[in-house]
Amino acid sequence: MAAVDLSAGILRKFQLSEHRARLHLDRGEYAEAVKYLRQCHQLMQQYADQPGTGDTVRRMRLERAEEYLTLALQAESQVQRGESQPTPLAALPERSAENNHQATVEGLITRVNVRWADIGGLLATKEAIQLNYALGLVQAPPGVAIQPSRRTLLYGPPGTGKTMLAAAMSNELDATFFNARIPDLMSQYFGESSKLISALYATAAIHAPSVIFLDEIDALSRQRGGGQESGAERRLLNTFLGELDGLQNKREDAPFILTVGATNVPWELDRAILSRFSGGMIYVPLPDVEARRAILGIYLDKRGHRIAFGLEELVRRTQGYSGREMEQIVGLAVRRMVGRANPNLLQQAGSGQEALRRYQLKVEPLSADDIAHALAAVRPATSAEMVRRYEAWEKG
Ligand SMILES: Nc1ncnc2c1ncn2[C@@H]1O[C@H](COP(=O)(O)OP(=O)(O)OP(=O)(O)O)[C@@H](O)[C@H]1O
Ligand SMILES: [Mg+2]
Repeated sequence: MAAVDLSAGILRKFQLSEHRARLHLDRGEYAEAVKYLRQCHQLMQQYADQPGTGDTVRRMRLERAEEYLTLALQAESQVQRGESQPTPLAALPERSAENNHQATVEGLITRVNVRWADIGGLLATKEAIQLNYALGLVQAPPGVAIQPSRRTLLYGPPGTGKTMLAAAMSNELDATFFNARIPDLMSQYFGESSKLISALYATAAIHAPSVIFLDEIDALSRQRGGGQESGAERRLLNTFLGELDGLQNKREDAPFILTVGATNVPWELDRAILSRFSGGMIYVPLPDVEARRAILGIYLDKRGHRIAFGLEELVRRTQGYSGREMEQIVGLAVRRMVGRANPNLLQQAGSGQEALRRYQLKVEPLSADDIAHALAAVRPATSAEMVRRYEAWEKG
């Protein structure tokens, strides 16, 4: 769905190069250091030029890139002089912890190009989401107070479009999309995660308007009741609640930051979290008949595939499947059809790239058999019993 985002990868490479540059500088190994300093310079420039980077941040990164170039040149002149005892160079500037946290959360920024039309069905859900953020944006008449809602919690079975909906919302608002999985924040930055949450909100303010997407938000409270909650986890939850409350209490000229949480297990959420999202809880169900028709339209018609039998039959037979699973079903059926319609494709593959590039793929309508095989290969992950549990929970 979302366009591939490179910024997190660039940042990781940069951090690795910086680490190595630092090691070699410390040991006075300037020839090696030059190599890594130049890498730092280039990677930081690339990082600055990532699409969606604001002007201020871009300028900061370019300035930082220059620092590495300067150091590389200094180290290079040491190498050229070839002194046996080179004069030590100034050490690499230590980045403050806040700076590093900010760089880490900037790595979560994801470019998205999902539009509402890419999401099949879910009309009521889309409307609920739009109303929710619209109320957070509009001006109320003088003297009228409407509590702005800048928090949404999407819950429902896996693969039903929660991430897509959050991305579409962000796209619609032309906002910076921070895509964070709570379990990642907790495991990769153990003990630091609560600082990261603060950095996330601070950085979202710099890049506002922003959408902070917190996937698997239930991880914030999963250990509760188990009696094994550690101080760090408690601190993370409290920091998160504090950030939410802080936003809510600010005046209307505060930076626009929407928080969108997502979970498959709403009943595991901490009461403190639930109360913060009350009024913004949105159920994203398995697709109903109409939604399945729309989703099939997206993955069949819009991609130029036809089926050799009635669409309505397929709509019926995909009952109980999620959107993700339906996409898989179509994908499998298409592969099977392609194999059947192009029996000598493998032989072509054997005659090299050039032959393949000239080969014109043959396609035909998907047969009942193609679909039957695909349906048998993909089993729905969500049982009828689970659906009842979501519905019961929705009613409260
Ligand atoms: N309503 C839909 N219309 C079109 N495609 C859909 C729809 N629902 C799901 N999909 C497809 O399934 C994929 C998964 O959707 P998404 O990641 O939004 O699900 P999710 O609800 O976030 O799942 P999870 O709970 O597992 O994170 C999408 O990338 C898309 O390809
Ligand atoms: Mg998701």
